[in-house]
Amino acid sequence: MITLLPSVLSADFANLGNELDTLKKSGVTEVHIDVMDGMFVPSISFGMPVIASMRKVSDLTFDVHMMVEEPGRYIDDMVKVGADAIGVHAEACKHLDRTIMQIKDAGKKAYVVLNPATPLSVLDYVLDKIDYVLLMTVNPGFGGQSYIPQMTEKIRDLRRKIDARGLDVEIQVDGGIKLNNVETVIDAGASRIVAGSSVFGDHTEEQIAAFLKIFAEK
Ligand code: DX5
Ligand code: ZN
Repeated sequence: MITLLPSVLSADFANLGNELDTLKKSGVTEVHIDVMDGMFVPSISFGMPVIASMRKVSDLTFDVHMMVEEPGRYIDDMVKVGADAIGVHAEACKHLDRTIMQIKDAGKKAYVVLNPATPLSVLDYVLDKIDYVLLMTVNPGFGGQSYIPQMTEKIRDLRRKIDARGLDVEIQVDGGIKLNNVETVIDAGASRIVAGSSVFGDHTEEQIAAFLKIFAEK
C-alpha cells in the first residue's frame, strides 16, 4: 500500500482547519507536520500549540517530522499534543537509540530521518527498532525545492538493505516529490510519499486525486 502524506508546511496557516477538512474529504489518511527550530535547519515553522489546535479539529494520523536539535527533549510534548508518528534526524540526536526508544515507549510509531548526504550505515543497529526510514530527497528546511536525483539510488540501496534483513520497515520520502517523479521513487522502493507544494494550492483536491490515481495503479 502506498500512502500520501500532504505536508502542511505548504498549507494556508490562516485556514488550517479547512485545509485539514479538504485533505480528509479527498481521501487522505495521514498528514505530515514539519517542526523546525531555526537551529537544525535555518527556518522556524511552528510547534506544539499549533499541532494541539490541529488535533482538536482533525482525526487524521499526525506524522511529525522534527527538524530540531536534540528532539528527545520534546517527545513527551509531541505525544501530548497528538502526534501518532514521530521522526527524528540521525544528525540531530547524540543518542539516537535512546530517542527512538523514548518514542516507542510512548506507544507511537518511530522513524529516523536522514539528510541527503548522510550514509545509510547510521541505520545499521537501529533498523529493526523503527517503523519507517524517511530519506530526505532535498536538504531540509524549506518547501518547494527540487528533488535531488542521486536520492533514487539511495532509496534503492535502502530497499535492498531492508529486504535482505527481512524487516518490515517502510521507506518514506520527503522533498521535491511531484506527479512527474513520484513513480520513480515508488519504483525504487518508497511507499510513504510526502508532498507539500505539489499538493496545496488552488487545486488541492485535484492534485490529491491525481496522486491517489497513480498509487492505485501501482
Ligand atoms: C522540507 C520539509 C518538507 C516540505 C516538502 O524540509 O521536510 O516536508 O514541506 O515540501 P515540498 O514537497 O514542496 O518539497
Ligand atoms: Zn518534512
